[in-house]
Amino acid sequence: MSTEPEKWILMATARSPTNIAVIKYWGKRDETLILPINDSISITLDPDHLSATTTVAVSPSFESDRMWLNGKEIALTGGRYQNCLREIRNRAGEVEDQEKGIRIRKEDWGRLHVHVASYNNFPTAAGLASSAAGFACLVYSLAKLMNAKEELGELSSIARQGSGSACRSLYGGFVKWKMGSDANGSDSIAVQLASDTHWKDLVVIVAVVSSRQKETSSTSGMRESVDTSTLLEHRAKVVVPSRIHQMEEAIKNHDFASFAQLTCADSNQFHAVCLDTRPPIFYMNDTSHRIINLVERWNQHEGTPQVAYTFDAGPNAVLIAPNRKVATLLLQRLLFYFPPPPENDLTSYILGDRSILHEAGVQSPKDVETLVPPPEAKDKVPNKRYAGDVSYFICTKSGKGPMLLTDEDQALISSETGIPKIVT
Ligand code: ADE
Repeated sequence: MSTEPEKWILMATARSPTNIAVIKYWGKRDETLILPINDSISITLDPDHLSATTTVAVSPSFESDRMWLNGKEIALTGGRYQNCLREIRNRAGEVEDQEKGIRIRKEDWGRLHVHVASYNNFPTAAGLASSAAGFACLVYSLAKLMNAKEELGELSSIARQGSGSACRSLYGGFVKWKMGSDANGSDSIAVQLASDTHWKDLVVIVAVVSSRQKETSSTSGMRESVDTSTLLEHRAKVVVPSRIHQMEEAIKNHDFASFAQLTCADSNQFHAVCLDTRPPIFYMNDTSHRIINLVERWNQHEGTPQVAYTFDAGPNAVLIAPNRKVATLLLQRLLFYFPPPPENDLTSYILGDRSILHEAGVQSPKDVETLVPPPEAKDKVPNKRYAGDVSYFICTKSGKGPMLLTDEDQALISSETGIPKIVT
């Protein structure tokens, strides 16, 4: 190491996206290594709207490994963080910065402590797979800092040990997590099916649904499903293998009708497995069901899928439209049934790519009030509107995988103190 060991701090900062599964991961065959019972497929979402940014720093003056999440210090004692740190340390290489007079040999990394600061650009508690973005970012930034020259596939297998679905966030576009068959998990890795530019027209609208209920964590929910659901066994062995094949074809061929049919069916089967679990698990609520009805009624009316929906382990809806024109019609429908509460302006109600709002002809809450029911709405049933049942919408699209942020300003840790620039 350098001759002035106590002074220097070395850092790396990266940004990683979250992802949404269209063929779901539900159920582990190994709880420690986080090995799934089936393959899954996801779309990586645009990091401008849904991502984690993480700075990792190392210095001989650090006395222990520490981590701050959104400015608040959290314990790093959890096995999942320790697994990721250990796996990257084991693969660390030599690092030399002649300008700063730093030389770290491979064998030094075991003795050096790290500070980690991570920040999510969306509410962490909203149930939007923040841990997928978070663990992908942690592993990617640690690998850069420690000069671990592993391929993305190997990094995905390390991120998997932090949070299963994090392995899919190591790539942009469309990603498959191969369940693998090795007992040690070496072949349970993510692979990219297509880049973010492959199916550029797709538009994703996330409805963040207000929930009063504390949800069952995915970890315990999965365990209970594996232990008690006979439907899950059938799903993993029979249904998913065929759907994975069909979904890969649909993505390759830009076949939206198949893509939508498979996405909706797989989300519904995942929630059916939750109902088949003893005791049953309810992740969706009345608002989620209303959104499904809205889409199903519209798709039925048109005779071909207009929009796909998918729901993870919570009530939020992720809606996928084939292009901006359909996304505009979707947003009009969503705003008709779920207008913002009276005190809310549209700036905080529609986030992300707000240009779709203008295409929908909605500039102000007044415009939302004057929206008319969609043509497929049943004439005889009065059209109730549910103001306040959706917290906000995020308009986004498919995006790129992790990237290194090299600008000093983008670092979340001060290079002087080794502590996050903003602590809450
Ligand atoms: N869990 C939720 N968000 C996270 C993040 N950004 N980093 C690590 N773990 C997380």
